[in-house]
Amino acid sequence: MTTMTDLITQLEACHQHHLVDYLSKVMPESARKAIAAQLGEIDLDQLGIMIEKYVRNYTPAASAGKIAPAQYYSLDGDWDKASFKAKGEELIRASKIACFTVAGGQGSRLGYDGPKGCYPASCVTGKPLFAIFAEGILASQEKYDAVIPWYIMTSPLNHDATKSFFAEHDYFGLDAGNVQFFQQGVMPSLDATTGEILLADPMHLATNPDGHGGAFKALSVSGALADMRTRGIEHMSYFQVDNPHAMVVDPVFLGLHAFATDSSGEFSSKMVAKASWDEKVGVFCDVDGVTQVIEYSDMPEELAKQINEDGTLAFNAGSIAIHAIGVGFIDKIVSNPEYALPFHRALKKVAYFDLSIGQTVTPSENNAVKLEKFVFDGIPLAAKSIVAETDRVEEFAPVKNATGNDSVESSKAIQSERAARWLESAGVKIPRKADGTVDAIIEISPMIALCPEDLSSVDLPDSIEPGATVTLE
Ligand code: UD1
Repeated sequence: MTTMTDLITQLEACHQHHLVDYLSKVMPESARKAIAAQLGEIDLDQLGIMIEKYVRNYTPAASAGKIAPAQYYSLDGDWDKASFKAKGEELIRASKIACFTVAGGQGSRLGYDGPKGCYPASCVTGKPLFAIFAEGILASQEKYDAVIPWYIMTSPLNHDATKSFFAEHDYFGLDAGNVQFFQQGVMPSLDATTGEILLADPMHLATNPDGHGGAFKALSVSGALADMRTRGIEHMSYFQVDNPHAMVVDPVFLGLHAFATDSSGEFSSKMVAKASWDEKVGVFCDVDGVTQVIEYSDMPEELAKQINEDGTLAFNAGSIAIHAIGVGFIDKIVSNPEYALPFHRALKKVAYFDLSIGQTVTPSENNAVKLEKFVFDGIPLAAKSIVAETDRVEEFAPVKNATGNDSVESSKAIQSERAARWLESAGVKIPRKADGTVDAIIEISPMIALCPEDLSSVDLPDSIEPGATVTLE
């Protein structure tokens, strides 16, 4: 156990003199104990190294290496989709696939005060994101006569609220024993100038979730990984809580991930062609011969704007944050320090308790450094990683912002468009406006259809009236 003297020595070594003073001052024993206990949970030697690297002596990383567009399985490519689909279906039928959703983010951009997964996102009935995924899982379990456990990563910010939401809604019809919640870790938020650990209040350090890259460790320490092993799960179908169009299990993609000769079955990804050079999506690149995602904020503008002879973007492989991850890969990452994911540094506004004045300060400018890991930094650590193209409307309708791009409004328009396409493929006449957009609002529950082919057994109308609101439940 760390003694107070050890703690003080460690704090001094990583320039946390404000905390040394605080712990040495006359203060209620409860506050001293609370702060000391939280500090005791942190690897202060490691944190000291990161404070030097990302705050006190921070210099932006030099160019990543030789960057080229990543290769991918293109949508209209000449590869045997039917055979990969059959192999993927076999994995699902054998109950070897689990779903994994990262839902630990704060969702502050959406301006919604609650876990993002509780957000009413479907275009007619306002179904919460969690309900849409739950229905997808229920319908897939029925379709493949399989069990598909669902692992949901929350953070201390929304863990209890998320669990209560599921309990209140009776797990949306899923067996509660097949839904497991676990929390990701946190990192202390740091003063951007001094590297000092900020306090949220006199009893608590200010912390932030450690990024979805914290998933590997959290899967392991929470026991979720062991649970997957017990159940015989071999691969996870990974998606973010913000995308109601994510296919909860996609047999073609899972088959490709697990069986393609250029995949090690460790970490595969889906991409869509970018909508514009500055779309806020990570880009699959080949850096010195290795596939990886360069996040939109790190992508050099001259590369993002580069175009091919036919006018298309050279770096067009936009990440929709849908992956297939082998269970064995999680072990590899968590048990080898050489595979530790890097941290990314973000400057943010963080309210803090200022010890020198004994008051909470709400800054108007960015004052803090948050350190996060990104799950996709696992991609270059896979022996062989593949990327598969998918159709944007089919699989990407993110709800991220209150208005504009990637907002609930844009998501709902994409949802109606996808439903309209599915109905058109089943012979239903769909009203369209002069600009080609659907002149109706249409929602198809995953319980009715997971893909257009599922509509063949559904009783459908011949046409939909212009301006109609339609739900197929
Ligand atoms: C993310 C990807 C981007 C991708 C885009 C596709 C990152 C850093 N970038 O951008 O490459 O093209 O989605 O939509 O992810 N989350 C956690 N814990 C955390 C932080 C985030 O669970 O500590 C979850 C959020 O709940 C959310 C997802 O990760 O489901 C995305 O995080 P966010 O920070 O919103 O990333 P984007 O900027 O949307």
